[in-house]
Amino acid sequence: MTIVKKLLAASAAALALIAGSSFATTDEAIAERIKPYGTVCLAGEECANAVAAAPAGDAAAAGAGRSGEAVYGQYCTACHSTGLLNAPKTGDTAAWEEHLAAVGDMDALVQSAIAGKGAMPPKGTCGDCSDDEILAAIQHMSGL
Ligand code: HEC
Repeated sequence: MTIVKKLLAASAAALALIAGSSFATTDEAIAERIKPYGTVCLAGEECANAVAAAPAGDAAAAGAGRSGEAVYGQYCTACHSTGLLNAPKTGDTAAWEEHLAAVGDMDALVQSAIAGKGAMPPKGTCGDCSDDEILAAIQHMSGL
């Protein structure tokens, strides 16, 4: 009987030790454990992770625009790779030259793409594209 009691007492002590060491119960420890996973970052505030929080448009405005290939692959290829809705086809430089001649010069062609024309939606659906990114995409698919 006494051996059993001693064993029980020993295991109770061991449990108390474990509980004391691995389950911290200070207010700070609890606050740290239950703090929200992310943090909210409002416009105008300094953010903990400013790079991830910056919208893609900011990068474009800062001059770090996407390549013509990237813009084309994401926004223009749907219509221009196949000539859908009679869009001038990617790589069909002659067709693009006709469009260019009709408006005058490359600047005018960029403006036409930004404004949209017929079945061609404004900015070719790339709403946050800069003028330079539209130009790069046109150059990529027209070869002009
Ligand atoms: C929903 C289909 C569609 C998408 C997406 C699209 N286009 Fe077009 N695009 C057209 C069609 C159709 C035309 C021919 C319009 C016409 O001549 O009436 C056209 C014509 C153009 C022209 C010639 C405009 C002119 O004045 O002749 C340019 C430049 C152009 N697209 C650029 C782009 C760029 C850049 C993108 C991607 C950022 C894009 N397009 C995405 C359908 C599309």
